[in-house]
Amino acid sequence: MSSNLLKGKRGIIFGALDEQSIAWHVAEKCVAHGASITLTNAPVAMRFGKIFDLGKSLNAEVIPADATLLEDLENLLTKSMEATGGKIDFILHSIGMSLNVRKGKSYTDLNYDFMQKTFDISSISFHKLMQSAMKLDAVNDGGSILALTYIAAQRIFPDYSEMAEAKALLESFARSFGYHYGVSKKVRVNTISQSPTMTTAGSGIKGFKEFFDYADKMSPLGNASADACADYCVAMFSDLTRSVTMQNLFHDGGFSSMGMSPALINS
Ligand SMILES: NC(=O)c1ccc[n+]([C@@H]2O[C@H](COP(=O)([O-])OP(=O)(O)OC[C@H]3O[C@@H](n4cnc5c(N)ncnc54)[C@H](O)[C@@H]3O)[C@@H](O)[C@H]2O)c1
Repeated sequence: MSSNLLKGKRGIIFGALDEQSIAWHVAEKCVAHGASITLTNAPVAMRFGKIFDLGKSLNAEVIPADATLLEDLENLLTKSMEATGGKIDFILHSIGMSLNVRKGKSYTDLNYDFMQKTFDISSISFHKLMQSAMKLDAVNDGGSILALTYIAAQRIFPDYSEMAEAKALLESFARSFGYHYGVSKKVRVNTISQSPTMTTAGSGIKGFKEFFDYADKMSPLGNASADACADYCVAMFSDLTRSVTMQNLFHDGGFSSMGMSPALINS
């Protein structure tokens, strides 16, 4: 299903690692809805080469950027404006990584150097991106900036570990920067809180498959897919949502409003 919801708009999509990545789906939908985009990921992620296949199929330039480095972000924003022919209308931040989770550290035995890196990659990069964009005046009035988050920012999901704090910080940056960007440029900043999704980042969490099935049963609509998330992102990038800002928007099949579900008790 496509329309011209994003016709004439220019965007930057972070985080398309492979076909499972939520960002991969978002990139495809944005182009299907008429946008012209650039793709970016950390230089190390370029090794897999898949992002270049996506770039080719979408006629989108691939611009490497480590999202923790200001010079990379500035280069990305400048090159994206050149590649797409003007200021940017929308940006998807789809980046998450926990060093402590990756190294198997338990929540009560975290390494704080790892934690700082986790926050830098997963959260502070969002502030760095918006600050760089604002300084370069790279985003059009009324633009829309999104980051992907998870409900562990509000509720306890023990195996999500320090990523819970990383997501809480990310959501707070969306509200705080959303204020400043709204006042100065009418740019909207929101987070989308997505269901568990089978991706490289998702399946790095211990017991992910069991948890995925639990959330699927708990949610009246079932888990929201990456494809459906991409549709929601398109809606949020479009002018139809021009007055929505500083929100954490649950896209989770109803999970966040549930207390208990007979579907689980009777299973
Ligand atoms: N999969 C889930 O269950 C789920 C649920 C809710 C929210 N999310 C969030 O969705 C977003 C996308 O994750 P995904 O599930 O599509 O997994 P993914 O592994 O496909 O994407 C994560 C991306 O982050 C990129 N990245 C890591 N370090 C980076 C850096 N320094 N600079 C630039 N990019 C970097 C990776 O290369 C990768 O492309 C993340 O923010 C994640 O926390 C995922």
